[in-house]
Amino acid sequence: MTTIEAPASGGAARNDAAPRISTDLPGPKAQAIIARDQAVASPSLTRAYPLVAESGSGVVVTDVDGNTFLDFAAGIAVCSTGHSHPKVVAAIKEQADRLIHIAGTDFYEPRYLEFMERLAAIAPFEEKARVFLTNSGTEAVEGAIKLARYHTKRPGIIAFEGGFHGRTMGALSLTNSKVKQRAGFGPLVPMVHHAPFPRVRSWREGTGGDGSAELAHLKNTIFGRQIAPSDVAAIVVEPIQGEGGYFPAPAAFLEGLRALCDEHGILLIADEIQSGMGRTGSWWAIEHAGVEPDIILSAKGIASGMPIGAFIARESVWTWPPGAHGSTFAGNPVCAAAGLATLDILESEGLANAAEMGARLRRGLEDVADRSGVVRDVRGVGLMLGVEFESHEAAEAVQDAAFRRGLLTLECGESSIRFSPPLIVDADEVDAAVRIFGEAVGAARTPEKGMDETGG
Ligand SMILES: Cc1ncc(COP(=O)(O)O)c(C=O)c1O
Repeated sequence: MTTIEAPASGGAARNDAAPRISTDLPGPKAQAIIARDQAVASPSLTRAYPLVAESGSGVVVTDVDGNTFLDFAAGIAVCSTGHSHPKVVAAIKEQADRLIHIAGTDFYEPRYLEFMERLAAIAPFEEKARVFLTNSGTEAVEGAIKLARYHTKRPGIIAFEGGFHGRTMGALSLTNSKVKQRAGFGPLVPMVHHAPFPRVRSWREGTGGDGSAELAHLKNTIFGRQIAPSDVAAIVVEPIQGEGGYFPAPAAFLEGLRALCDEHGILLIADEIQSGMGRTGSWWAIEHAGVEPDIILSAKGIASGMPIGAFIARESVWTWPPGAHGSTFAGNPVCAAAGLATLDILESEGLANAAEMGARLRRGLEDVADRSGVVRDVRGVGLMLGVEFESHEAAEAVQDAAFRRGLLTLECGESSIRFSPPLIVDADEVDAAVRIFGEAVGAARTPEKGMDETGG
């Protein structure tokens, strides 16, 4: 049995819950639940490590055996206001008492309306915006593909190598992150082409450039040989690739995509399901480049963990008629109420904090990287930061060693670890996470110790 506590000077002071690991991981209760889960759950689930969560508060998650963790994964960048923020919980309870469901596709409801109004107000368009609420990220992608095809009367879509857009058939056709996500599911949607995405590693290698080579490939090879731009409805891009490895697109690349879209009457769709909702210190990552998309997609951090997403488009794009698109549960009033409370919290404290804490976290991670000698890159914007290692095995070993010390992170790309904590994270929590991460990198570098730490 191990007992690990974060140093007295750090830890989750606000929650009075410094990471405390007092059982072997997984503990006895966690082991029992994992065994039952394995007997019934779909084998397609890929649990990163054996965390069995029981409760959460702020940035701290407690497992079923009473171990506590600093959560810098936030349920895959979802718990933007932390776990069970009191204002979000109150909004959910109040709305559940009032009305749980009515079907926004068929009837009007005030929370549904107010949430659309708030999202339209923060959409990064000059033109007035309209909103369609969804149940998830992948459903927002599906809806946006349909809207783009309907509006342009064109079939083709350009997506990017390494991109991730979801797992339903349309979104999966765009997804290009890991082949196991696509294997066995074809034929996928036709006339989807994947262009190269700039993988800029500027921290140590200084490589990647400004995306001009990738733009030239799209213009010359894809539009020159594979699909005529006049057949393309939309270019779908993550301004910061998430699952693909936390690669921010250079501003010049996004500007180049905008120019291509303008030249050929193509819609630019920004998939900000992971990078949006204030995570980068602005509502949308694409705002850092000063580029306006035609459609923007949101989900994940939009409602602190309640299942809701949205596709938001410029007024003139919505040319489809009543009945063209709908969804039974989407925009559920309880989720919308949680979304409204989430927007309030992000507006009043989350955005500014994401920028400030993001800078602090980045400095800490770069410091660990400098000292470790095994880190290939540190990159990202605000509280969307990735640390790339030389190999998948190294990233996996560090992720596991961090977990065993009370820090939750998640791998992404081929060999990176992502840091996507709640946007309300404080300086003590950031410092504690950096310390634990440094220890985890050290442990994973020592083969014997690393073997022990990862269970062999
Ligand atoms: C950029 C991006 N788009 C789409 C999705 C799909 O969202 P969901 O898992 O809610 O369907 C994800 C999920 O990771 C994502 O990161």
